[in-house]
Amino acid sequence: MIPYNNGLSGQEPGESQSHESSNRQPLKEYIAGVGDFVAGELTMLFPKHWEVPSKLAEAMSYSLLAGGKRLRPLLVIAACEALGGRREAALPVAAAIEMVHTYSLIHDDLPAMDDDDYRRGRLTNHKVYGEAAAILAGDALLTHAFYSVVQSARRHGVSAENVLSIVEDLAEMAGPRGMVGGQAADMEGEQGLTDLESLRYIHLHKTGDLIVFSLLAGGRIGGASEKQLEALRRFGVSIGLAFQVQDDILDLVGDESKLGKKTGSDVRQQKVTYPYFIGLEASRREVERLTEEAKSAVREGGFEGGARLIEIADYLMSRDH
Ligand code: IPE
Ligand code: IPE
Ligand code: MG
Ligand code: MG
Ligand code: MG
Repeated sequence: MIPYNNGLSGQEPGESQSHESSNRQPLKEYIAGVGDFVAGELTMLFPKHWEVPSKLAEAMSYSLLAGGKRLRPLLVIAACEALGGRREAALPVAAAIEMVHTYSLIHDDLPAMDDDDYRRGRLTNHKVYGEAAAILAGDALLTHAFYSVVQSARRHGVSAENVLSIVEDLAEMAGPRGMVGGQAADMEGEQGLTDLESLRYIHLHKTGDLIVFSLLAGGRIGGASEKQLEALRRFGVSIGLAFQVQDDILDLVGDESKLGKKTGSDVRQQKVTYPYFIGLEASRREVERLTEEAKSAVREGGFEGGARLIEIADYLMSRDH
């Protein structure tokens, strides 16, 4: 076990108390509130009458309930609320994307992939349950996510047309054209062989696509226009790329007790990263540049509650975990 603070207590990096005139809830409280809301949904993972092998259910919950920043659910809910939508209606999709993300982490940590021993402050799933159980826990989280998405129509009246688009986006952005495609390219990339353009592809897909999905899904539930969906997509592409560049930076210079995972994983696995290509300082400047790009996309989208999205972009830029 490594000491781990998922960031929901103590001073937040980038936390801004300077939104003087606004009566918006402080970002830290907003993030904690969404985190609790989503955790409640993730705790009641299956309908009561389902029979699920107990070890499988336990392995799924072990990683899902370990904490984590819950960034993707935060984006689903913040996008929905930026359009005046209801948080409850977005909850099943927020839970679903956290399931897909958690599955991607369980598989990413496997010996055949990044071979990591710690995640979210705990031993990785395969270290506790064994590789077969960890693979299956990931598979089950991925499939169960689609069940959860559908519950937004069943329980909260999200239109079937919207759910159809959300399912389609999730399949596209988590699958071969999206996150899995990015992970496949990441596994093939070797230092010295991959160029910056290929690295950008890897980052946009392995990490960016689930972030774009989260924003589009929240936007759809909140009733976004086509123009607003496009603005959310641009926002997501930029913060998604910035998020992975920052992850690469933190893998080099971050604090393990804040990150809840070991640093130095990329060097150990000879991964191609932004700092490897352009250096630490240029990588930091790239994160700043991408954050500015993201913020202009939101401004141009004309969102009633866009200030929250802008605040989240700033918070992510200066995150240390
Ligand atoms: C880690 O994601 C993997 C990447 C895509 C960079 P997060 O940094 O969001 O991990 P958790 O959810 O907080 O554990
Ligand atoms: C992983 O990128 C992205 C995923 C799709 C899981 P990394 O391999 O850099 O993520 P960490 O650093 O292990 O969290
Ligand atoms: Mg990886
Ligand atoms: Mg990894
Ligand atoms: Mg990493």
